[in-house]
Parts: sequence; structure tokens; C-alpha cells
Amino acid sequence: MNIKTFQQNLIEWYKKQGRDLPWRHTRDPYAIWVSEIMLQQTQVDTVKNYYTRFLETLPDIISLAQANEDRVFKLWEGLGYYRRVRHMQEAARQIVSEYDGRFPDNYDDIIRLKGIGTYTASAISSIAFGQEKGVIDGNTLRILSRIYNRQDNIALDKTKKTYQLLMDELIHDADPSMFNQGMMDLGAGICTPRHPLCGHCPVCSFCEAHASGRESVLPVNIKNTSKTDLYYITAILKKDDKYFLIKNKEGLLENLYGFVQYEVESPISFEESFHNSYGLTVRLYEYCKEIKHVFSHRIWHMNVYLGEIMDGPETAGASEPLCEQLYTEEEMEKLPISTAHRKVCAFVKKSTDSEQR
Ligand code: ADE
Repeated sequence: MNIKTFQQNLIEWYKKQGRDLPWRHTRDPYAIWVSEIMLQQTQVDTVKNYYTRFLETLPDIISLAQANEDRVFKLWEGLGYYRRVRHMQEAARQIVSEYDGRFPDNYDDIIRLKGIGTYTASAISSIAFGQEKGVIDGNTLRILSRIYNRQDNIALDKTKKTYQLLMDELIHDADPSMFNQGMMDLGAGICTPRHPLCGHCPVCSFCEAHASGRESVLPVNIKNTSKTDLYYITAILKKDDKYFLIKNKEGLLENLYGFVQYEVESPISFEESFHNSYGLTVRLYEYCKEIKHVFSHRIWHMNVYLGEIMDGPETAGASEPLCEQLYTEEEMEKLPISTAHRKVCAFVKKSTDSEQR
């Protein structure tokens, strides 16, 4: 294959047909970093608004490093995979202390930052600093397996390593930013998983899979993706007109607020667990509904109950921490809350709205 022509065809096409995206109007590594972290697990269309709002609120590394944690999480609310933003703030602090606030300008230093793996380090170092680092993700793996008509299972790590070598060969001596983003756009709009638009592909003449009519059966992508079902009792606990919420200290939703839930099988077990955790007596008095939320490897079945925090000697003793954990519906709106628990908030809102009618 003539690599030079492959690169020229791809890049000419990218210049004319590439997507006009907000993070493509800057070479500020901070802004590119923000976009790449958001794009790790979120669709381009969703990211656009979040990206703009995030940069308006926290325009540089220092502002992110110094920002109040709840404020940062609020900017991320609804994007999911909240560990990303916690790691970003840690990395921003790392950049302030180790690099005097300047974003490191090469792959080897970038990949040492918290929350950055090979894809993101390659994307940032190529787009912001022009380093020849090919990006490997689902899109580029699919393109490569078709171009070279290869049967490797792209779900396997060893395939990613092999394809990284192919990609680094293909990017050599090209404009790294345009090459990588051209590949991303080719994967997103032309070399799609189903029904690829080979008639519009700028590198179709290089595609061995197309030449042998095999583009629609490639890539081989056989995953082992069983999801775990988790069953919770999730309680909307009220004291007067306020709701009891906790801030998660660990796990999938660390730093986000939510309703209390336990993996228990009966309301009585919930009440006991709650008493053990908070020293407070609660009573669950009504079952509402099951709310389901699907994560990448888990499905939460949240069996939602209404409950109240009882007045009593324990409540009096625990009044200090308790008042910190009680929020009005309005205050709840302003807190960073995961999408799963926002579904419970929506239920609360619907119930109070219908009560008021
Ligand atoms: N996905 C990940 N990085 C991207 C980028 N820079 N442009 C478009 N899609 C992307």
C-alpha cells in the first residue's frame, strides 16, 4: 500500500468533510483534554453542550484545580462515569504542582496523569502537540480490520497492541492531528459498523475487505459482556418537607449525592441497616415502583419506597449530622446527583406536583 496516498486522501477528505466540533477550534491542550475526557464514554452530540459550559465555568487548569468539588461534579451531572471528573481534578492539581500549571507537552508525561490511558494520551499529544501517536478505539480498530482484511477479534487486548503498530505506521510523517481526527470521522460517518458507505470513502481503493466484499462481516468483535443485576431497596426518606440524601464516599458514584439504598430484600432489613449506619430510626410505609438503571457492567433495580425519619431520642442525639443531610426539593436540584438517582428525583417531583394539583 502507498501510505503517502492513503494519508493524503484521508486528510484532504477530512479538511472538506470533517465535522465542525467546538474543540476543533482550539489548540489549547486544557480544552482538548476536557473534550477527550468527556468523549471517552459519551457521544459527540451530548458532549458539545457540556464541553462549552465546562470551559465557560472553568476556563483553565488553575480554575479546575481550585474549584469546589460539588461545583465540578454539578458540571458533569448526567454525563455518567463520574470517576472521570474526579481524576481530572486530581490531574489538574498534579499539573499545578509538577508542571507549574502548564499542561505537559508529550505523550510520556501526559499518560502519567490521572485518568489518562493510551487513547486519550495519543489524542491529546497528537491534536495539541503534533506527536505521531495513532489513536486506537472501536472506530479505528474497525477501519484497520477492513483496510487490511484481518480477522483478529478486536475485543482482545492483544489485537489492540497489534493494531497500534499498524496505526503508528500509517500516521508516520502525516499531520498527526488531522490524520487521527480524520480516522475518527471516517469511523463515525463512513466506515460505520453496519452498512458502511464505501462509495463515499476516501480510502476505499486501499480497502482489502471492500475488494473482497467482506466489509460487512468485519470486524470480528466477540465480547464477554454479561451484566450483573443488583437489587436495591432505595428509600425516599422525608423529615418534614426535606429529603435525606447522602454523599457517596466511594464506588461507582463517588462524590455524587443520592438516596439511601441497600442490597436488602425487605423493608425491615432496610430499616435495620439504616439504623446501623446512621443511628436513626426510619419507617418505610409505601412501595412506589421499580426504577431500572443500566450501567456498562451492571443493572440496578431500585425498588423505591417512601419512608420517614422518626422523631425520637436518637434523632435528637444525631441532629447535627442529620440537618446536614436534609435537603428541600429546590436544594436537591442544585446538588450533583447521578442519573440513576435523578430518576428517583423525577419521581419525587412528579408526586409532589400531582399533590399540589
Ligand atoms: N472521539 C474522541 N475524540 C474525538 C475527537 N477529537 N473528535 C471527535 N470524536 C472524538
